Amino acid sequence: MKTFSSNNNLDTVPEVTPAELARAFEAGDRIQIIDVRRPSSIAPVGLMPPGLNIVGSTLLGYTDLGETGVDASTPAVVICARGNDSRVAAHHLNRLGAHAQSLAGGMTAWMKLSVPRTVTPPPSLDRLVQFDRVGKEALSYVLISAGEALIIDPPRDADSLLRYIDDEGATLVGVADTHVHADYISGATAIARARGVPYYLHPYDSVFPYDGTQGSVEFQPISDGMSIRCGRCPMMVVHTPGHSPGSVTYIVKDTAAFTGDFLFITSIGRPDLADRTEEWSALLWTSIQRAKSQWPSTLMIYPAHYTSQTARTGDGVIGEPFGSLLVRNPSLGISSESSFMHWIEQHVASFPDAYRTIKGINVGLFSADDREADELENGRNECALGG
Ligand SMILES: [Fe+2]
Repeated sequence: MKTFSSNNNLDTVPEVTPAELARAFEAGDRIQIIDVRRPSSIAPVGLMPPGLNIVGSTLLGYTDLGETGVDASTPAVVICARGNDSRVAAHHLNRLGAHAQSLAGGMTAWMKLSVPRTVTPPPSLDRLVQFDRVGKEALSYVLISAGEALIIDPPRDADSLLRYIDDEGATLVGVADTHVHADYISGATAIARARGVPYYLHPYDSVFPYDGTQGSVEFQPISDGMSIRCGRCPMMVVHTPGHSPGSVTYIVKDTAAFTGDFLFITSIGRPDLADRTEEWSALLWTSIQRAKSQWPSTLMIYPAHYTSQTARTGDGVIGEPFGSLLVRNPSLGISSESSFMHWIEQHVASFPDAYRTIKGINVGLFSADDREADELENGRNECALGG
């Protein structure tokens, strides 16, 4: 068998950038995804339609396109971990008659792609931008009001958010997490340290939930009813536990709610990530009832994740009025706590082992270098239940 190291004429292999690929997906273009990683390193990835998995060394052994299963008439994008093996594979496929491009930077670059989408801001804000990490299906937000900026749920690599704030001439005044994340490493502590601003977190989420060890991150504790100011915008903290004990929703004056992993457009944040499912499910039920009784139907819901492309509006933004969620989000239609508990039982599933490590990193108990962090964060989020 040939080794996977041929590099004849690799300079001529066409490449597609993660941003171009994301645009092609959104445009509904027909694309074949050929993943040349070993099956053991493949994690489910948002937006990537199901494709072929042909381990690179096997692919190089094929001498006829028919053997590969690749369709010559459909554009193909070859992906690997970092964009090197995929170039070799795309080159080979093209020699066999395919129309293949290599994904530049591979899955590592794909997972880091952050697409900014401008959202119509509520009156107390001048700018509201949703940064969409399409590989993770995770959303971060930048709010700007009267020259001051606030970041909600930043990723580890938050350069594009900070650049946007700097380009707008705004001053960052704080960074906030809606909860301690399980599926990615928060950039909040690094931003807070680098820019000398407070990091807002509910104290219940500063603890490693698997054994109760107090974490070591520095943060400004927040609590229900507290207000965080950004320019002329007061943002209220509403404690909405269930996905985690310290989950909060940040509400801008009854107009926009940043719900984190409490409430998504068609699903809710899973309460089974710490082996305390019954306790956290009861918290989640109470949080949902509180939202249903207090939130206006016009309140725009901006979550930290989405689980389906159907959650997008025409301009790609993920955000809908609470009244629309009451119709399309099945968990909000459940009328009794016992039915809700039963519904949770039916939907719980396993979750990636990496989530324990990531929570430990986010509360300051563990650390990871960049390469380890890339591996831990690989794959789409699995934070949602029921939709
Ligand atoms: Fe999450």
